Amino acid sequence: MRMRRVRNKKILREMVRESRLSVKDFIYPLFVVEGEDIKREIPSLPGVYHFSVDRLEEEILELVDLGIPAVILFGLPQHKDAHGSQAYAEDGIIQRAIRKIKEVSRDILVVTDVCMCEYTDHGHCGILNEDGNVENDLTVSYLEKISLSHARAGADIIAPSDMMDFRVKGIRRALDEGGFEDVPIMAYSAKFASSYYGPFRDAAGSAPSFGDRKAYQMDFHNSDEAMVEIELDLDEDADFVIVKPALAYLDILQRASETFNTRFVAYNVSGEYAMLKNAVDQGILAPEVIYESLIAMKRAGAQLIISYHAKEVALQMKEGRL
Ligand code: PBG
Ligand code: ZN
Repeated sequence: MRMRRVRNKKILREMVRESRLSVKDFIYPLFVVEGEDIKREIPSLPGVYHFSVDRLEEEILELVDLGIPAVILFGLPQHKDAHGSQAYAEDGIIQRAIRKIKEVSRDILVVTDVCMCEYTDHGHCGILNEDGNVENDLTVSYLEKISLSHARAGADIIAPSDMMDFRVKGIRRALDEGGFEDVPIMAYSAKFASSYYGPFRDAAGSAPSFGDRKAYQMDFHNSDEAMVEIELDLDEDADFVIVKPALAYLDILQRASETFNTRFVAYNVSGEYAMLKNAVDQGILAPEVIYESLIAMKRAGAQLIISYHAKEVALQMKEGRL
């Protein structure tokens, strides 16, 4: 079929667009810290802040007002230990943050990132054995505990980002047994060992104190392997699949969305945000580059986008500037 090209008619051009961005596509990352009365800009992520629990209210109300439907939480705990015990403490930073947000508004969903790297003193994503390697199965049992404590505090969606094998299965079973059959799992299935996480690790204080994450995060030379990881997580009953990072991995997202019938989430990570934000702030790139990049994720098959850009883009949409 030959398609008549649409030229010059702005309204018609808008009508026949194949991809759109809605404020309802967004999940906004929030960093929660210990202390009181803190709203502090994160140096590596200009325009993004650390919040203490008591200052979450104003931010949540602002997000609700903008129409942003969900946040994903990251916590910086009071203390770290070998077992990341603050990750599953009933009064841990995330557990308190969830309760606070639920108290403030019922109009925003709370997704929680489940991983151990912000809570372990060595900064790895799991429990280490004597050789300094992450113990997969033992770590999964901790992830189950963390997920349950998040659900108990009121989390709406659990998002494991550790990349241990069989963690979706374990977390699903733990949630079901705990009476949380309705809490979906948003799995970081295709998560690559990437330098694009740099600003996040500064923001979350989660850089490993030795070695790297290459034993459990994926090798970015591989695409077939990403498909295998996604298939495994879907077999284990993941409800959403995250591809991370987004921009340098659009081929993965596109291939995955053509291969599997599920809900895909693009994680537009901290390094991607920092690059564009800095380029725009310095006048090197036009601000429209942000919208263009988010549309690329939609075009590639993302249903949802986790992005630090969400607030500013939502504001532009609200004011009719986009
Ligand atoms: C925890 C986690 C990371 C990110 C999300 N969850 C860091 C990492 O894997 O090192 C990165 C997010 C970003 O860069 O915005 N495992
Ligand atoms: Zn981690």
